[in-house]
This record gives sequence, structure tokens and C-alpha cells, in this order.
Amino acid sequence: MNYFVLLSLLVTVMGGKSPRLKFVVHEHSRFHFNTPENYISMYHQEGTNTLYVGGQAIVYVLTFTDRGVRDVQIPVASDQTAIDTCKAKAAPLERECDNFITVIQKVNDTFIVCGTNAGSPRCWMLVNETVLTDVQGSGQIAAASDISPPYPSQKSISLLADGSLYSAMSSVEGHAGSIRRTFGSQKLLKTENIWLLNPQFAGAAIIPSSQKFKEEIYFFFSEINKTARVDEEPYRARIGRICMVDEGGIKTLLADSWTTFMKARVMCGAGNTQQQYNNMKQAVVLTAQDNRAGVMYGLFSNAWGRTVICAYSIEDINRAFSTSKLKGYSSPFTGPRPGMCVRKDLTVGSQNDVKNLGVMRYHPEIEDVIRPVGVAPLDLPTDDQITHTVADIVRAVNDEHYSVLYLGTEQGKVLKVLHTNKEVFIISQYSLFHNEGPVLNMAIDSQKGHLYVGTVMEVQRVPLADCGRYGDTCRECVLSRDPYCAWDKTRRKCLAIPPGYNDTSKELIQNLDHSNSSVCGEAAALKQRQTSPREVVVQSNTSIFLPCPVRSFHATYRWEKDNCNKNYPCLFSRDFCVLGPVVDTPLKEGVFRCIATEDGFKWEVVSFRLVNDGKLLAASLASTLGTSLLLAMATLWLH
Ligand SMILES: *[C@@H]1O[C@H](CO)[C@@H](O)[C@H](O)[C@H]1NC(C)=O
Ligand SMILES: *[C@@H]1O[C@H](CO)[C@@H](O)[C@H](O)[C@H]1NC(C)=O
Ligand SMILES: *[C@@H]1O[C@H](CO)[C@@H](O)[C@H](O)[C@H]1NC(C)=O
Ligand SMILES: *[C@@H]1O[C@H](CO)[C@@H](O)[C@H](O)[C@H]1NC(C)=O
Ligand SMILES: *[C@@H]1O[C@H](CO)[C@@H](O)[C@H](O)[C@H]1NC(C)=O
Ligand SMILES: *[C@@H]1O[C@H](CO)[C@@H](O)[C@H](O)[C@H]1NC(C)=O
Repeated sequence: MNYFVLLSLLVTVMGGKSPRLKFVVHEHSRFHFNTPENYISMYHQEGTNTLYVGGQAIVYVLTFTDRGVRDVQIPVASDQTAIDTCKAKAAPLERECDNFITVIQKVNDTFIVCGTNAGSPRCWMLVNETVLTDVQGSGQIAAASDISPPYPSQKSISLLADGSLYSAMSSVEGHAGSIRRTFGSQKLLKTENIWLLNPQFAGAAIIPSSQKFKEEIYFFFSEINKTARVDEEPYRARIGRICMVDEGGIKTLLADSWTTFMKARVMCGAGNTQQQYNNMKQAVVLTAQDNRAGVMYGLFSNAWGRTVICAYSIEDINRAFSTSKLKGYSSPFTGPRPGMCVRKDLTVGSQNDVKNLGVMRYHPEIEDVIRPVGVAPLDLPTDDQITHTVADIVRAVNDEHYSVLYLGTEQGKVLKVLHTNKEVFIISQYSLFHNEGPVLNMAIDSQKGHLYVGTVMEVQRVPLADCGRYGDTCRECVLSRDPYCAWDKTRRKCLAIPPGYNDTSKELIQNLDHSNSSVCGEAAALKQRQTSPREVVVQSNTSIFLPCPVRSFHATYRWEKDNCNKNYPCLFSRDFCVLGPVVDTPLKEGVFRCIATEDGFKWEVVSFRLVNDGKLLAASLASTLGTSLLLAMATLWLH
């Protein structure tokens, strides 16, 4: 009896606590590196089919088609002197003494490529996809060491905005860490060293505005207090921001520095509890065009390396920077608030301006703390460690916008996650790679609908709208809760929402806010879909296992015998709900049907007719088949 209770428990635990669907995908559009690339940088311009991948002393120019990948490989060697010096120092590791490409950016029509160059960073220009020359030309450029770190394990961020390159360099030995404008026609500016405490950068994003001069860039990073006691948390997650119109201060104050830099503390954890995730590893922002409404997703870890995602409202962050008190400054502001974006032709050189410069120089931090939406990390039902994340904003059938997160994991999987106002839902898990290495980098192209995923061994491209995988019924399509996909009533197919779709025609069915397919209105049709039983011949005394493939991991699976007189739970259930010879299960003659239940619907997945002592050949086959073979055979039948 107890045995059965345990089994039933196992079956119920399965629902909810995992991705709903699991796909093993091996697209033709994949590229294998000749040698493992332990660090990869990526550049992709939306709307194209080309991905630039920076590796060890090489730039791969990969052009993807649905049939395969065309590659051009451009060697970018380090200077021999730099390698010799690096090896003499053996710092930090000898295998890092090479030219790891850390930055690839397109500035107007010029590609800028920067690499570690064995500890003494250098930048080049990429011309005609083949030739590399040292950077020159119209714009002014900062030192390569302000754009690329000296070693690949150290992180830098680069972002192109309005024809200027912005670079955030994490603190490394001999470099305090900085946020700079490093290339372009605008004045090159930097942060003052005292504004940042050993920053480790996690991301950057342009925050658009309907008024051009109000456009900002947010930088995401963690600061480390190296003198913190062992019982103190050394990490503090931060958002820093600058105005893109910033042209620096006056001769005597902030001459070559930002005059609009402000930073705030970011919390990720449950309320004010001790359980906080303070180390921000990566951050992405979703905003609509010309709109400050939006969301920022941060990937955080705690001291034990556990990863979580926190979501923040861009409006909240913006409000904090525009209204909060400044730390250590209590006098009222006279005139415009310091740090706000102002048009260049206004207030330059006024008395207020000088005073405000002083305020910004000594009080860049705001008092308000930025807290996540829902005052807690997203409740992601997975234990996977997340290594990389990208996000997309999708206009659904109901004309609302929904966020979709793509989370790369330590095991080389990608989780596709729907984030609605109320909850997070793991739509599916993709297994893309033969080798189980962590996802190192991803790039998303919302325009073309592609996701690029890179690991140490390969890069693969997958479609964002993968609607054909969800099955051929309205119910399956709607229960997928994939914002890209909807059930087309006329064509009776699960299809990607066409661009510019207008819901007045009511042709498409979708329900993203709940796992509920009642919108399909096909309850009666589904009540009992019978399958034709497959015959299995068994000797009377052999053990036999009947497999039933699990498709939705949010459904419950069980077996019925003959006329549903009795139910049998799965013996074990991972990718299969298996019926095996346990007490009270007369696995002899009869018809066994596997029944799945989800969202109030029941359907038959597969059925077997067991026949005793049949033809000699068949009988001996069945008895010599082990469980695994039988399962494997069943998989073949079922596909
Ligand atoms: C790049 O290609 C264009 C057109 O093919 C050619 O005119 C130009 O000279 C090339 N530039 C370099 C640096 O080779
Ligand atoms: C890029 O183009 C913009 C607009 O045409 C121009 O203002 C800027 O100076 C250019 N940047 C560089 C580095 O040439
Ligand atoms: C770093 O931690 C030490 C020890 O708690 C503390 O005295 C110091 O003020 C901290 N530094 C900063 C910049 O917070
Ligand atoms: C949808 O189509 C209707 C009628 O054709 C039109 O009045 C409406 O403005 C359209 N809505 C959108 C969002 O384009
Ligand atoms: C099955 O039963 C037959 C006869 O009843 C016996 O000879 C055979 O050894 C049994 N096989 C197994 C695996 O128990
Ligand atoms: C689905 O939604 C319908 C209509 O809103 C409701 O009546 C039904 O109870 C819901 N089903 C489930 C399983 O929640």
C-alpha cells in the first residue's frame, strides 16, 4: 500500500515544478569551432543573418541560413613582445597570454575589434571582413586598455549609441574600473575613480526618451568591498546612469568627467530578509521605442553561487534618480536638480551649474534603494544554474506586450520563460548541444526572430517562434502559452502571429495569462481520443515494462487496464511514464492505456495490447528485450 502512496506522490510532484515541454533540437544552422573557445564575445546587428564571434586570436564571421552556416575566419594575432612579457609574468594564467577578442562593435560603417593582446589590450579596424588595420579615422579614440580588459576572464561591456562607443571596464589589477565614452565625435568622458568601488560590470542599456536630449545610458554592475570582514557581504549591486548629451564639466571641475553620473543600490531578495542576492552577473533591459516604461532583468548570485532573476521597473528606477535625496547631501537644490539631462544650449556656465557640478562630484549616490517588482526574485520553478540571459518583448494577439526571457544554463540548455504581471511560466527547455557545457553567450534578433546560442564548442541558431512544435490541436497550442504562437482557426494550425496582425478579425486564439484552454471550446471533442493499441507478445513469466512518453511535464500520467476498472500509477516518470510489474499489477493479457490529464482535460497517449505466448520469434524477442531496449523501441514507434 505504502508503495503506491509513494508512487502517486512522485507523479503529482512532477506537475508545475519544471519546464512544461522539453525539446531536443539539432538545427542545421550550427557551427562547430575547430578548437574549444573558452571565452566568446558576440556582435549581431538585428535584421541580418550574420553573427560575429570573437574567440582566441580569431574573429569568426558566421552567416546563417536554414541549411547551414558559412564561415569566414579572420586571424587576429597578439604581438610577440606582448606574449613574451605576459608569459614572463605568468599572469594571471599562462593560457590567458593570447589575444582574446573581447569587443566587436560597428561604429557607423567601421568595425572596431579589441582584444586582450596577451595582457596589453589593442584595438583594430576590420575592413571588408578580411583586413585588420590599427584604428584611425575621423573619431577620437580612448586607450585600448579603457575598452578591453587585459585578460579574458575579466569583464568589459561596450555599447554603441548615436555613433559613439561607450565602454565599461571592470576593475582589474592596475585599473580602477571606469565608465567611459571611448570612440566617436562627442567628447571622450570618464568616471572619477572615487565614484566606483572595484566595479564588475554586468550590462548596459540605452534608456530611450521621446525627447532626444533626455536619453540616458544605464550601466549595471556589482561593487566589491575588498576590506569587508568575513561575516560581511562584500558585494553590492548597482545601477549607474549618465546622460548621452553630457559633454563634461568646466576647466576646474569635472573637465573630462561625466557631470550626470549617478548611482543607486539595487536589491534582489525577499523584502528586507537576510536572503539577498548581491552579486549582479548580467542585466538586460526591455523598453518600447521612445518610452521609459520597461523592465530590467538582472541575473544575480549569492555567496553560494545560487542564481536568481530579479525584475525591475524602469519607471521606478527613473523616478528614484529624478527624486531621491543624494547620499551625504541635505541642502535644498537651488535651480535645476543636479545630474538631470539638459539641452546643451541651456544653463551653461551659470552659477548654479558650478554648484551642481560640485554636488555631482562629491555626491553621485542616491539614497533610494531600487527594489524588484514583487519585492522578491522571480519564482522560477527550476534548480538550474543560469549562466546567461537575453530577453524579448512580444506583442500578443490581445495587443498587450509580454516579456519572454531566454535563460542559458550551466548544462547547455536554454529555458524559454514567459513573464506576465502575475507569474513566471517556463514554456519549454531546449537541449541544443551534443556536449553539456555551459551557455557562454547569446544574441537575440527580435526583428528576424532568431536566437543565437554559444558554448565552448559551438554556436547554434534557433527560431524564436517555434510554433510547429506545440502539436496540432488548439488546446496544445493555447496551453503552450508561447506569446509568439497562436491557434489559427481557419487553417487549423499553431502558427506564429504575423507582423501587423490586427485582432479585429478574431482569427487567432491565444491565452497567455492562465494555463487554460477553454477559449478553444473543444471540450467535447477531446473527452476520449482513442489510440489503436500496439500488440506486444510476452511469455507468461517475463517482466515487461510499458512506456508512455511524457510530453507535457505539467500533465499527470497514469495507466488504465481494459475498461478503466482500475488505475495504475507510473513506476517511474521522467521522460516516460512507465508501467512495470509491481504488486497488484497484472501485466499479463489485456489492453493497457496511458492517460494524461492537464487543465481538466484527459487524453489517451498510447495503448498496448499484451498477448500471452504468441509466435515463437515475437515471444523470444520480447523476453530478451531489456527495459531500455523496449523503451527505445517504443520511442521509435511513437515518433
Ligand atoms: C574594400 O572593398 C572596396 C570595394 O570592394 C574597395 O574599394 C576597397 O579598396 C577595399 N578596402 C580595403 C582596405 O581593402
Ligand atoms: C558616425 O556618424 C554620425 C552621424 O552621421 C557622426 O555624428 C559620428 O561622428 C560618426 N562617428 C564616427 C566615429 O565617425
Ligand atoms: C568596507 O568594509 C569595511 C569593514 O566593514 C568598512 O569599514 C568600510 O567602510 C567599507 N567600505 C566601503 C566603501 O563601504
Ligand atoms: C484594426 O483594423 C480595424 C479595421 O480594419 C481598424 O479600425 C483598427 O484601427 C485596426 N487596429 C490596429 C491596431 O491597427
Ligand atoms: C519461464 O517459465 C518456463 C516454464 O514455465 C521456465 O522453463 C523458464 O525457466 C522460466 N523463465 C524464467 C526467466 O523464469
Ligand atoms: C478556464 O477558464 C474558464 C472560463 O474563464 C473557467 O470556467 C474554467 O474553470 C477554467 N478552467 C480551469 C481548469 O481553470
